[in-house]
Amino acid sequence: MEKSRTPSKLMISSSITIFSISILFSNVALAGNTNHQFCRELSISKFEEKLTHLRFYYHNLIKITNAQIVSGNSSTGFGRIDVVDAELREGPETNSKLVGRVEGLELNASQGELGLLMVISFAFTEGKYNGSTLSMLGRNLILREVREMPLVGGTGLFRFARGYAQARTVLFNSSITIVQFDFSVIHY
Ligand SMILES: *[C@@H]1O[C@H](CO)[C@@H](O)[C@H](O)[C@H]1NC(C)=O
Ligand SMILES: *[C@@H]1O[C@H](CO)[C@@H](O)[C@H](O)[C@H]1NC(C)=O
Ligand SMILES: *[C@@H]1O[C@H](CO)[C@@H](O)[C@H](O)[C@H]1NC(C)=O
Ligand SMILES: *[C@@H]1O[C@H](CO)[C@@H](O)[C@H](O)[C@H]1NC(C)=O
Repeated sequence: MEKSRTPSKLMISSSITIFSISILFSNVALAGNTNHQFCRELSISKFEEKLTHLRFYYHNLIKITNAQIVSGNSSTGFGRIDVVDAELREGPETNSKLVGRVEGLELNASQGELGLLMVISFAFTEGKYNGSTLSMLGRNLILREVREMPLVGGTGLFRFARGYAQARTVLFNSSITIVQFDFSVIHY
């Protein structure tokens, strides 16, 4: 049986005080601990970072694996955009083992030099890297002997990847471009 349906003034004020104290504590708890139902923080100290070096060759068969989608300035080429789905091979020989695809955009983004902005996914199809990707985003001054571009992330075995790529042109004519890529990648 209930004692009373009308609580006293004292009971109301004390329950208000308890209520505001519990709000205060829940705010403190929220500030110090960002675990909610939708997120969970884990320590990454138990995962070991490793540095992987990769060397492979980009084979762009101009008529087959390259399409110009925006023509750009008619005299300088500035603003031109090409989409590529080039071959990634183990060696510079056109019949060496295919290890992936190089898919993305190459944009003439420099008015002063022969410079491209590369927005590229390296999608691996061989061995333990099959299904993993690395993303490259950066400036490619194509006439330089060595160009360096950032690797900004990855998937699969390259989750949380960061690093850099060095590109060296091996062969360049009107039917094919072959570029050696050396990657240094930090990942878990
Ligand atoms: C192409 O670039 C040149 C040099 O910057 C400029 O004079 C010309 O107007 C541009 N042409 C077009 C169609 O944008
Ligand atoms: C644009 O890129 C092509 C190669 O894709 C190059 O032949 C041309 O000179 C470039 N132009 C500029 C302004 O970088
Ligand atoms: C790579 O993975 C795909 C999809 O899982 C599979 O079809 C293919 O056979 C694999 N290639 C190699 C060389 O293991
Ligand atoms: C480009 O180079 C390749 C490999 O050396 C050669 O087979 C091909 O005939 C060359 N194409 C042109 C148009 O020079």
